[in-house]
Amino acid sequence: MSIFAHLYFRLKLLEFMRTDLFALRHIGIREEDLPQMLRTINVNSVDQLITETIPDDIRLAKPLALETPMSEHEYLSHIQVLSEKNKVFKSYIGLGYHESITPSVIKRNILENAGWYTAYTPYQAEIAQGRLEALLNFQTVIAELTGMELANASLLDESTAAAEAMTMLFDVRSRDQKKNNVLKFFVSEEILPQTLSLLKTRSTPLEIELIVGNHESFEFGDDYFGALLQYPGKHGQVHDYASFVAKAVEKNIKVAIAADILSLALLTPPGEFGADVVVGTTQRFGIPLGYGGPHAAFFATKEEYKRSIPGRIIGVTKDTDGKPALRMALQTREQHIKRDKATSNICTAQVLLAVMAGMYAVYHGPKGLKYIANKVHSTAVTLADSLEKLGLYQTNTSYFDTISIKADSSKVRPIAEKYEVNFLYVDADTISIALNEATSIKDLQLIVNIFAEAIGKKAITINGLLSQSLLENKLARTSTFLENNVFNSYHSETELMRYIKKLERKDLALNHSMISLGSCTMKLNAASEMLPLSMARWGNIHPFVPIEQAEGYQIILKELEKDLNIITGFAGTSLQPNSGAQGEFAGLMVIRAYHESRGETHRNICLIPASAHGTNPASAVMAGMKVVVTKTDENGNIDVADLAEKAELHKDNLSALMVTYPSTHGVFESSIKEITKLIHDNGGQVYMDGANMNAQVGLTNPATIGADVCHLNLHKTFAIPHGGGGPGVGPICVAEQLVPFLPGNPVIKTGGDKAITAISAAPWGSSLVCLISYGYIKMLGENGLTQSTKTAILNANYIKNKLSGKFDVLYTGERGRAAHEMIIDCRPFKENGIEVTDIAKRLMDYGFHAPTVSFPVAGTLMIEPTESESLAELDRFCSAMLSIREEIDAASAEDNNNALKNAPHTLEMVTTDKWEFPYSRQQAAFPLPYILENKFWPSVRRVDDTYGDRNLICTCAPIEAYAEA
Ligand SMILES: Cc1ncc(COP(=O)(O)O)c(C=O)c1O
Repeated sequence: MSIFAHLYFRLKLLEFMRTDLFALRHIGIREEDLPQMLRTINVNSVDQLITETIPDDIRLAKPLALETPMSEHEYLSHIQVLSEKNKVFKSYIGLGYHESITPSVIKRNILENAGWYTAYTPYQAEIAQGRLEALLNFQTVIAELTGMELANASLLDESTAAAEAMTMLFDVRSRDQKKNNVLKFFVSEEILPQTLSLLKTRSTPLEIELIVGNHESFEFGDDYFGALLQYPGKHGQVHDYASFVAKAVEKNIKVAIAADILSLALLTPPGEFGADVVVGTTQRFGIPLGYGGPHAAFFATKEEYKRSIPGRIIGVTKDTDGKPALRMALQTREQHIKRDKATSNICTAQVLLAVMAGMYAVYHGPKGLKYIANKVHSTAVTLADSLEKLGLYQTNTSYFDTISIKADSSKVRPIAEKYEVNFLYVDADTISIALNEATSIKDLQLIVNIFAEAIGKKAITINGLLSQSLLENKLARTSTFLENNVFNSYHSETELMRYIKKLERKDLALNHSMISLGSCTMKLNAASEMLPLSMARWGNIHPFVPIEQAEGYQIILKELEKDLNIITGFAGTSLQPNSGAQGEFAGLMVIRAYHESRGETHRNICLIPASAHGTNPASAVMAGMKVVVTKTDENGNIDVADLAEKAELHKDNLSALMVTYPSTHGVFESSIKEITKLIHDNGGQVYMDGANMNAQVGLTNPATIGADVCHLNLHKTFAIPHGGGGPGVGPICVAEQLVPFLPGNPVIKTGGDKAITAISAAPWGSSLVCLISYGYIKMLGENGLTQSTKTAILNANYIKNKLSGKFDVLYTGERGRAAHEMIIDCRPFKENGIEVTDIAKRLMDYGFHAPTVSFPVAGTLMIEPTESESLAELDRFCSAMLSIREEIDAASAEDNNNALKNAPHTLEMVTTDKWEFPYSRQQAAFPLPYILENKFWPSVRRVDDTYGDRNLICTCAPIEAYAEA
């Protein structure tokens, strides 16, 4: 053996022995599993499988040029070092973001707990009662604090929520208003700047005319359909909006109010003075600032708009035994997004953050919330008093937490920054100071000292908080709130810890078993990726701090953008969109701006294949485009002839094609390059929905297939946990010609030279969770990422072949291979009286969450195992499916009383003295031996969807009350 060969062998051996490689922890399949798996799939190597799966002409010629991967240990010290580059100043900037205190019991038991953060959106209600209850609590908090009849279970951020309010009010215009083309929407000049920017983005395509002005001089005309006010105003003034709303009602102008949630503990809630919609953020309910997000926004409205409300609503229903149970009501999500009739594309929202904010209210209760609000108010009053004593002038006549000081900004700012304090410098002689629950007397003293130094006076000493109120009496809240049991029971840590655990136990998350939801990529969310989220130096940075204070973040965000460019093959990335659907909208708006820049404003046709996810057409409509649906052929592929015909027909007005790749059918269509060329030849741009990027990374990429822009779901492919329905990050990556149009922010410069207005409130969207994807890429490196993709494809094909003969796979590639997911056809089982839902519910008895039900094809299951699952888990899943198949064979159309129809089986069912089913208890709850050692009990029987929608209740009364009804 030559010396070189020897060295090479040594190195290989060392690599083999490197148990500190993160890839080894992220990927579930071991080297020794391969022979069996390859035999099952009938290939000689993984590479052969990949060659048979991905068309040759789109394979990457070179490995991704990423850095050498770090071990977990190295990464954790690296991220710690980077965090020290962030300067954590005391920030009193406000503008919708405030330092808040996350109760440790919530941080440890929810934010840092895989039982909560790895759950998916509660599609399968019977194994999601815990987070459904937590979200019902959130809705109750919102409805009661705002004084509205109902609230949804969270939106993305305050500004997008305000935009959703505008578009909902536009949609529910009266018949006359629609007939007369009433398009004007009044926006108070008191609105937050980022909200105004977002309203511009969302109103333009719909031709809504924004009129910004002073609400006191607003002339109510018949040409307005709605108005938006900020409560308190952006610099803290609390206005009395009662007469504005009363006049608006006379003119049939609907009013939305963007409100500060904490202030509503003291202020008259907008519902009491007639608002139609109330929106805002719950960030200050215990959620870290995180340089902009993620935080849960809220949306509360009147009962009459319940069918138009964006996002999801949790409602109360009953199960098979008539017992109370919770579920997502009115089917307001994902598969049910109303495609091209949609007014909203909200899909992933901010569930984990909503759960935390709701729990903050459970922990503090009404008394605690009032105490915090009062304390914050007193802090502001005390500061104003002290500054006035220094001779400074405070201009807000009525305020909650934010005061406005007349002083020379250019003198104050350098001194404040010397003492590591940020204010909002409104103009040369106005400084706004927003206080929060974490502000101490010591902090107040520092502020006073800063101002004293700036004006050359001796500071006065603050000895305590003043107790007088600076809120006008008539604005003071008199109504009670949160009297329900749940908000008055869990105030000791032991009690709250147990309540959180009780809810967690009801939910099946990734810490129990594989969640093979197709199109959702439920892979490992590694602890090392998650740990930095708890670090104060990442958590406590306001999104509008001067950029040089956030150097650590800037490094991470730029690196992540660079790595995503490398992975997608594109030239620029914007991390701003905070969900996949927002990415879609952003991408289409960028395409729109591009066409406009070339004088081709008329290009407004968006071609979308019939199999597309509902958010695609919804986003296209929001971007002002006309959707033309193209056909799929009998193999599930895009019907190229039909596409060509439509592209040609619309060539003068063609704006874009939206295409998911590999397709939502789980197939790498070999005609993709032909398809993208066809669109370009007809003047359009190609938008690739990157929800399935987990099948591409390192092997092919959107640029190579000929796309111009794609969104990525960092909460799928790049390891951000799904959090029970969010957080999400949906960056867009774009080709050179689209870079100038990447979205901007009105406060902190970001985006391209010709940036479109904001897509999300914060400049870099949900920066805090971008750390997760950064860590994922840095720890896996090129090899780990590519291996992950290959293994995801391997695992899917393994399941496919294991189930072969018993379950038909609907679509495959030309050489019979699935991509990273596959659709199995359950429609033939109708002959035996079995519906796809019966299989989904029966899987719960086997300890599994169902794959995606009836998307993109009704009556099917879409299975996506991901690379993180072990062979043992894949085998358990297959054995469950095969056992269910035997049960299906034994069922008949006349038989409504079998284990499938009665599934899921609860602990209560199988332990009652009376057992009246024609199969054994063991068959019901322990149909396979592996279940014995790791049983998961659904907490309710099958929920009644129809009853829930007919009797919509979406805030919590004592749950027993519904049982009596
Ligand atoms: C194919 C596809 N496109 C778009 C989306 C929307 O992404 P998000 O839920 O992040 O808005 C999804 C989400 O499941 C999806 O599967």
